[in-house]
Amino acid sequence: MNILRFDSAQAWVKATADRFCQALQQEPALRLCLPSGNTPLPLYAALVDAVRRHELSFRHARIFALDEYGGLAPDDPGRCVSMLRRHLIEQIDLPPAHFHFLDTLRPDIDRVCAEFDALLTEGLDLCLLGIGLNGHLGLNEPGSSVNSPTRRVELHPQTTHASQSYVKGSRLPTWGATIGMRPILQSKELWLLASGPAKAAIIARLVKAPSPDEALPASLLWPHPNCWLWVDPAAGAQL
Ligand code: PGA
Repeated sequence: MNILRFDSAQAWVKATADRFCQALQQEPALRLCLPSGNTPLPLYAALVDAVRRHELSFRHARIFALDEYGGLAPDDPGRCVSMLRRHLIEQIDLPPAHFHFLDTLRPDIDRVCAEFDALLTEGLDLCLLGIGLNGHLGLNEPGSSVNSPTRRVELHPQTTHASQSYVKGSRLPTWGATIGMRPILQSKELWLLASGPAKAAIIARLVKAPSPDEALPASLLWPHPNCWLWVDPAAGAQL
């Protein structure tokens, strides 16, 4: 894992956005896995601006949403698909058929996951990830194996608690569906994005023990040959 540190939160956003634009300009048909959550929002805002300025196009790209909560109302703004649509998909020129997400509203969730995994066998070119306070990637909670496929998962209590910042309904999610560690690790390039003071402790834990350990899913990225950890000053404060 290559560690990239920045002098300011603004420099972190600019660098991630510049590199993303360069990658998509070079290879317009990128197969991308993108997370929801708060971390990527400034990056998505910069990408939307680039599309508006006609400097960037997603016309030939494909986007696979990393994960999704289960049991939420269809109109809950905290559904991962809703967050991604609102902050990125609806504001860029991606053809609707090029956006793939885990539909946890369907009753046959195991089949949904198996179909999604099949779509991913062609592989991802670039996979962006946030990191949970417990080190999870997507909803691959501690204990997830490197071979885990896209699947239904039970949420760690900390993950259910953290969902409060997105979910509007009174019932918080206790399960979800996630792209598994296997397709994530098969991505040609991986970016782990970390910003803000809440992430300082987990980033220090990750960087100070640079070996793969299922108890810390983010550490499973260590052996990947093309993996980049982007840390802003607040998230890197304990390094
Ligand atoms: P956040 O979530 O970007 O909202 O901090 C990251 C995660 O829990 O995976």
